[in-house]
This record gives sequence, structure tokens and C-alpha cells, in this order.
Amino acid sequence: MAPRFDIDLLMPAPMMPFIMERLDQAFHVHKLWLAADADALLAEVAPSVRAIAAAGGAAITADLMRRLPRLECVSGFGVGYDSIDAQWAGTHGITVTNTPDVLTEEVADTALALTLMAVRRLPQAERYLRAGHWLEKPFPLTPSLRGRTAGVLGLGRIGKAIARRFAACGVPVHYHGRHRQADVDLPYHATPVDLARAVDVLVVVTPGGSETRNLVDAAVLKALGPDGILVNIARGTVVDEQALVAALRDGTILGAGLDVFAQEPAVPQALLDLDNVVLLPHVGSATTHTRQAMGQLVVDNLVAWAEGRPVPTPVPETPIKAG
Ligand code: 8YV
Repeated sequence: MAPRFDIDLLMPAPMMPFIMERLDQAFHVHKLWLAADADALLAEVAPSVRAIAAAGGAAITADLMRRLPRLECVSGFGVGYDSIDAQWAGTHGITVTNTPDVLTEEVADTALALTLMAVRRLPQAERYLRAGHWLEKPFPLTPSLRGRTAGVLGLGRIGKAIARRFAACGVPVHYHGRHRQADVDLPYHATPVDLARAVDVLVVVTPGGSETRNLVDAAVLKALGPDGILVNIARGTVVDEQALVAALRDGTILGAGLDVFAQEPAVPQALLDLDNVVLLPHVGSATTHTRQAMGQLVVDNLVAWAEGRPVPTPVPETPIKAG
């Protein structure tokens, strides 16, 4: 059966099967990763491609978009779109969409879980039981969430959902972001160092990209201090990984919980070797429920664009606003 729209769509990397099925029904989809010669396929379809469906992390660079003279819409899977050059797209009339809101509560759940895992050493406790050590003696006492103050670095939708969870746990929350938010009644700190100094759990929730690269550096970790726990569910690039390894090794901070890394899926051996860090394989939004909602939004954005309707979730850089 012919697709619903006579529109060529480029898919550089595989996406969830149901997304591919729905997009196949709607568009002429060119699956770059399946081609024996990806460059040859790209050269062949470039003049007619009008849309891209981008899997999380697939790099949609200005160089790629420049090769697609009829490109109008890039629909990204994920709330973070640091792998898409949205600035370039925006200034060239190309709509970029992401998948906000539908993953907010899921990612906030993960942040709270990771915080508790890191503070209470729960993964280590589970490994202890499985290794049979409980039969010998109880697992050692751990640090506690009681009496702690949390700092949210980046108080957007996900940051606020995390703050609500800390409030429910009786943990006071402070924040830093580019601006103080008039309608937010939480202590604001003008710099990441000031925030880190005021708290002993620091949760990174900022977007990735060049503006936030290594925002959490050696100075921030020093300010967080020897009781401090760093949690990152945002992007690995926001934290200086070498500085973090050093801080975990020499006791500058107490521990960390990381869901994201600078060069995923590679995780530095130096982190794997440390006992005071909990490591997750970027599972913040990775449930069937939430990934389905994200995938549907990828499709909905493309179909809305193809029908000439306002797209549901454009990124702020995009020239076309939601209706
Ligand atoms: C996904 C994410 O893991 O939404 C994001 O920005 O990082 C996650 O929800 C990713 O986009 C899919 O690979």
C-alpha cells in the first residue's frame, strides 16, 4: 500500500518497531543504517528528503541538513535534543520537535531512585546479599537522606518533578538555573558553585550541548564537599568526568549516581573500578509505557507537519510555533 503522504523521510538510525511501522504507513522512509552504502543512499535521496525521524542520540548536524535542500522538519526522539543542531535548523526555516512532558515523571522517578541508591548504597547491599556475605555479618551502616538538602541544577519540567519528590521525602530543595524563577518559592543560587556549597545532594538536570559542557567541574565538586552526592540524569557532557573520577577517588565528594556518560555507551574504566558510584545504562525514561508515549509523539509531530497543522512539541529554536 502506498504511504499516506507522498513525502520522503530520512531515518538515519533504527527506532522502536512501532514507530517504524507507523512512519512506513505515512511516508516513504529511507533507512540509512540498512543501506550497504549509506553515503550512496544519502546522495540518491538527498534532493527529495523533506523530513527526518531522529532516534535519541542520532547526530543531525548542520553538515547533514545542508545536504538536504528540501528539508522542513526534524522529529527527535527524546526531550534532550543536543544531538540535533536546532540553532542551524531554526535559522534555516526547519522545524525541530522533541518529546517533552510525556517522560517527565519517569525521569524524575529515576532521579529519586538513583539518589537513594547512591546515598544508601543499595546496589552494593544487594550485591552483598547475593554474594552470601549476609550469612557472615550484616551489611555496614550507610549514609542517609535524613538531614540532607538537595540542589537541582536546571529547574525545568523534570527538575520541578524531582523537587516535588524531594519535598515528599522531607528534603529541602535549592536550585540554580540561568534565571531565578519568579513563581518558584525555593532558594536560588546564582552559580553552580554557590548551589553546590549550600547542598549535599546535587542533581544535574540541565540540557546538554556546548552551553553546559563541564558545568559541573572540579570547583563545583569541591564546593559539594566530602558528604556530597552527585546525581546526573541529564547528559554526561555536563559533568567533567575526569574531575569527577578524581573527586570520587580522593574523597572530595562522598559518592555519585550516574545515568548518563560523556561517550555512551562506553563508560570509563576508572568509574567502573570505583565502589562509591552507582552506574545505570541511561534508563531515565526507559520504560515501555513512557517510550511508547515518546515514540507516538515523534509520529504525531511528523504527521501534524505533513498535514500542515502546527506541530505539537516544537523546540524553542524552531521558527514555527505550536498553535
Ligand atoms: C532517552 C533522553 O534515553 O529524552 C532524553 O533526552 O535522554 C532519554 O529519554 C533518549 O532520548 C533515547 O535514546
